[in-house]
Amino acid sequence: MTIDTLKLIVISDLHLLAEGKTSMGLDTADRLRTCVAAINDRHTDADLCVIAGDLADLGERAAYDLLKEILQDLVIPVAITIGNHDDRETFLSVFGQSEAAETGFVDKVIDMAGQRVILLDSAIAFGVHEGALSPEQLEWLGDRLKEAKDRPVVVVLHHHANPLHTNVDRIILSNGAEFASVLKRHPDIRQVIAGHVHYTSTAIWHGLPFTTLAGGHYNVTIPLDAPKARIARLSGPGQMAIVLSDADQTLVHFDNFIDDHRDLDLVDGISA
Ligand SMILES: [Fe+2]
Repeated sequence: MTIDTLKLIVISDLHLLAEGKTSMGLDTADRLRTCVAAINDRHTDADLCVIAGDLADLGERAAYDLLKEILQDLVIPVAITIGNHDDRETFLSVFGQSEAAETGFVDKVIDMAGQRVILLDSAIAFGVHEGALSPEQLEWLGDRLKEAKDRPVVVVLHHHANPLHTNVDRIILSNGAEFASVLKRHPDIRQVIAGHVHYTSTAIWHGLPFTTLAGGHYNVTIPLDAPKARIARLSGPGQMAIVLSDADQTLVHFDNFIDDHRDLDLVDGISA
């Protein structure tokens, strides 16, 4: 297998509503249009754009219709999975049943540039904010990894699997250790990328590389001297991850397509 350079854009946490409605005072449709324009302006050389869930804020049909409409302007291919703010059945009714794998979840495998990209649907059910991967999905993942033993693999899902030791761990992927043990069967996992937490982090956990990106909705600023304390939500940045992967390394850059940091509120908890 010849390994070429793969350029992958990861966006997340769009939290779309029906046109004209705002979430946390933010026009999320307008923010997605800004993101699409930034990709079309700066990253038309990318092989694929992956959307890592929380497409909608309230899981309603109008949000998925709007997503479909806005994505028509994107000039590179797109692959989608869902998050805890999404309604799986409503998403599938708009985007088509072929968006689901044989697992019944919105899982996907994409081979390009001699590498494998795997998307996993870590949502449990609409309104349940923590995540999980079902036994069937973990078995499916193991099979997909086995097929790709000879090439690098990048995994994208909505929920963070590794503990970040902040408030967001209340809504972590609940079976992350089990997930990591399946991933470790593969010799060349290059990145495991998540959204959900609305801030940027990187880690090595169980010997594997994990990254979160801030995404398209509000940004969470964690007071690191008191990580379980109240958190501030800021209007930005709106952020996408740019993944450049070749035979030698997998590099993650962060491109802030909205550079704005207004304090939206001070809140006790989160609903990422
Ligand atoms: Fe989320």
